[in-house]
Amino acid sequence: MKGRSLLTLKDFTKNEILSLIELSMHLKAKKRKEAYPPHLAGKLLDGMNIALIFDKSSTRTRCSFEVAAFDEGAGVTFLTNSQMGTKESIEDTAKVLGRLYDGIEYRGFETSIIEDLARYSGVPVWNGLTDDDHPTQTLADVMTAMEHTGKAVEELVFAYVGDGRNNVSNALLIGAAKLGYSYRIATPASLSPSPDLYNWALGEGANLLVTTDPREAVKGADVIYTDVWFSMGEEAKAAERIALLKEYQVNSALLASSNNPSVLFEHCLPAFHDLNTSVMAKIAKEHGLSEMEVTDEVFRGPHSVVFDQAENRMHTIKAVMVATLTGIL
Ligand code: CP
Ligand code: NVA
Repeated sequence: MKGRSLLTLKDFTKNEILSLIELSMHLKAKKRKEAYPPHLAGKLLDGMNIALIFDKSSTRTRCSFEVAAFDEGAGVTFLTNSQMGTKESIEDTAKVLGRLYDGIEYRGFETSIIEDLARYSGVPVWNGLTDDDHPTQTLADVMTAMEHTGKAVEELVFAYVGDGRNNVSNALLIGAAKLGYSYRIATPASLSPSPDLYNWALGEGANLLVTTDPREAVKGADVIYTDVWFSMGEEAKAAERIALLKEYQVNSALLASSNNPSVLFEHCLPAFHDLNTSVMAKIAKEHGLSEMEVTDEVFRGPHSVVFDQAENRMHTIKAVMVATLTGIL
C-alpha cells in the first residue's frame, strides 16, 4: 500500500481493509508490550513528517494522528489557520506541503478538497473526516466489534440508529459493501442515505436494510450504533433534527429489543448523553432535553464499548500511516 492515499474505503479491497485491521491489532500489541510480529519492531516512521490540516474541530482524530506519529518516530505539524483556500489555492498548498511532508491528513468539508490535496501533493493523503465520509472511524468501529465479539467480519450485524446520511453512517455503509457485514439503518425517510451511495453499495453486493423502525433494525444485531443528530456545520438544524430524530434515541428499551444479551453499543464520539457540555446545556434550555442520541444509562452501561473504540482510533490510524508510508503492507 506504499504511496496510497485513504480518501474513502471505496478505494480499498476487502483484503486490504482486513490487513489494515490486522496490522492495527499488531501495533496495539506492540504498544502494550505484548507479543507482536518482529518485523514491526523499531520506529517505523523514523525521520518522517506529517501535516495535519483541521478545518473542523477534533479531539480523537487529531490526538490519534499525533500519538501514532510520535510512537513511530515521526514529527507532526498541526495546521488550522493556514493560507489554504483563502489566500492560496488547494492546488498550490498541496504542492508546497508535498515538498515538505511525507503524508497529509485532512479534516474538513467537501470531498473535492481532499481529492485535490491527493492529486497535487504527490504524497499519501488521509481522510480525517469530511462532510460525506469518515473512513478511519469505520476501521476502529469494525476492529472494536471484532475484538469484543470474536466473530469474523462477515458474521457481524451493525444497526445504526439516527441520522442515516451523515459521514459516519456513510463510512459504515461503504464498509459493509467492502467487508460483507450486514448494515441496517433506522432513520426517518428524509435522512435516508443518498440513492447514489445506497445503489453503489447494493451493486457491490452489500447486505442492507433501511427502515424507519429502530426496533426492526436492532433485532439480532451485534452492534447498535448512533452518532449526533446534527453534525459539525449543521448546528442551525438542531431544532429540525430533534423533532425528526427524538424517536430514534438509543436507550435501554431499544437495547432490549435487540434480543441479544451481549449486544454492543458503539458511538464515534463526542456524544450528547448528559448535561455536561455547553451545547447540551443550550439544548436543555431551548428544547427541554437532558440527553439526545443516547441515554446516559446506555452510554455508561455494560454494553458500551465507546472508549475502546476511541482508543482503537489511534491504533487504526497508526496502521494506515505505517501501511501507506512504508512497504510493510
Ligand atoms: N470520532 C471522532 O472523529 O472524534 P473527533 O471529532 O474528536 O476527532
Ligand atoms: N457526524 C459527526 C461525527 C463527528 C466525529 C460530525 O461530522 O460532526
